[in-house]
Amino acid sequence: MNTHIDQAKRILAVNDRGGYTVPTDRLYPFQWNWDSAFVAMGFALYDIDRAYRELERLVEGQWVDGMIPHIVFHAPSETYFPGPNVWRTEQTIPTSGITQPPVFAIALRKLHEAAGKGAEERILPLYEAALKWHRWWYSARDPDGTGLVALLHPWESGSDNSPAWDIALARVPTDTDTPVVRKDTGHVDADMRPRDEDYRRFIHLVDTYAACGWEPARQWEKASFKVAEVQTSAILLKAGEDLEHLALLFGRTEDAIEIAAFNNRTRKAIMAQWRPELARFVSRDLISGEDVEAATQAGFIPLLSLDLDKQVADALVFEMKAWSKDLKVAFPTTKPGIASWEPKRYWRGPAWAIINWLLIDGLNRNGHADVAEELRRSTIAAIETEGFAEYFDPVTGEGCGGLGFSWTAAAYLWLERGALPA
Ligand code: SER
Repeated sequence: MNTHIDQAKRILAVNDRGGYTVPTDRLYPFQWNWDSAFVAMGFALYDIDRAYRELERLVEGQWVDGMIPHIVFHAPSETYFPGPNVWRTEQTIPTSGITQPPVFAIALRKLHEAAGKGAEERILPLYEAALKWHRWWYSARDPDGTGLVALLHPWESGSDNSPAWDIALARVPTDTDTPVVRKDTGHVDADMRPRDEDYRRFIHLVDTYAACGWEPARQWEKASFKVAEVQTSAILLKAGEDLEHLALLFGRTEDAIEIAAFNNRTRKAIMAQWRPELARFVSRDLISGEDVEAATQAGFIPLLSLDLDKQVADALVFEMKAWSKDLKVAFPTTKPGIASWEPKRYWRGPAWAIINWLLIDGLNRNGHADVAEELRRSTIAAIETEGFAEYFDPVTGEGCGGLGFSWTAAAYLWLERGALPA
């Protein structure tokens, strides 16, 4: 009997607020978008009804234009900033105004496979919601049809203060209409969180988009942060593959053709972002027109959704091994030793179980099952030693950020059984 499995399930139960799961108590007291997709996959291993419920509750916050917001504020809480009054989105159910990585359809396929035959009635509305969201990504965030989708706020990446944003974010002014009253540093050590200056820029962007009435075309025009991002695009492509699979399964031939066209465009566009001299894929800063060369985990995430030539896959893996050398816990979200590397600060170095989950899947897809297995074991060991922390210091292995974290519990349940997403 593995008591860690029981603990993981207990965390998901404790973080349940009525059909949806908060990432962790107090620090994140609402429903977060990509957190919930990972959590749903965790539930799917032992409670398929609850797994569906998680996604259904997220979709309650979907906008008419198809966007699924990054936070759904189902119930009020005083422990988080910025709350609904800062976002000013005027939705029936209060939500934030930005989105997050589209893991949703990846989860949907997993749920459908776990539910088995005859589960179509429940999944169809969720399938429709996913399709609407994917259309939104391509119309709102790739209006020029490049195949790469753009982020207008660093939080949309889920990797909030990654060094990938340092150059682009430095252009965003630090003045805000909304007073910045941080709550996060009351829950977690300030050295583990983004800096005050980052927060002022985060909120400046929120103010700008609220003034645009959250209208995508106006936001696109006014954005002082606009990055065509490789991690989000790679996740969108994997989700697109899974959505296409479901469309075919449900006899939705026209949908399948439409989704396949999205996928083909994105596949080609990501491939064009390969930089052999860096042994990584890169994002593009749409304001400067330049590559985002910062050395972060994002450059490896295309493993998840591309069937790469052996030479490219081998080069990526060689680079990943170089970054992981001498670390207690892989995979670091910033290349160890470079100027921006901070092993304890949010997204500037730490290892995250859900990023590892995506990388493990990608390594398996691209013929590196041995490296995938090593990373799987390293992730499991980190969690079993330190508990279900938000993330881990890769040098010391210390669990950092919020504790009792839902997506770490969900990742543990998946990774422990060795059954990785197809
Ligand atoms: N992760 C961000 C926060 O810390 C927003 O999604 O609040």
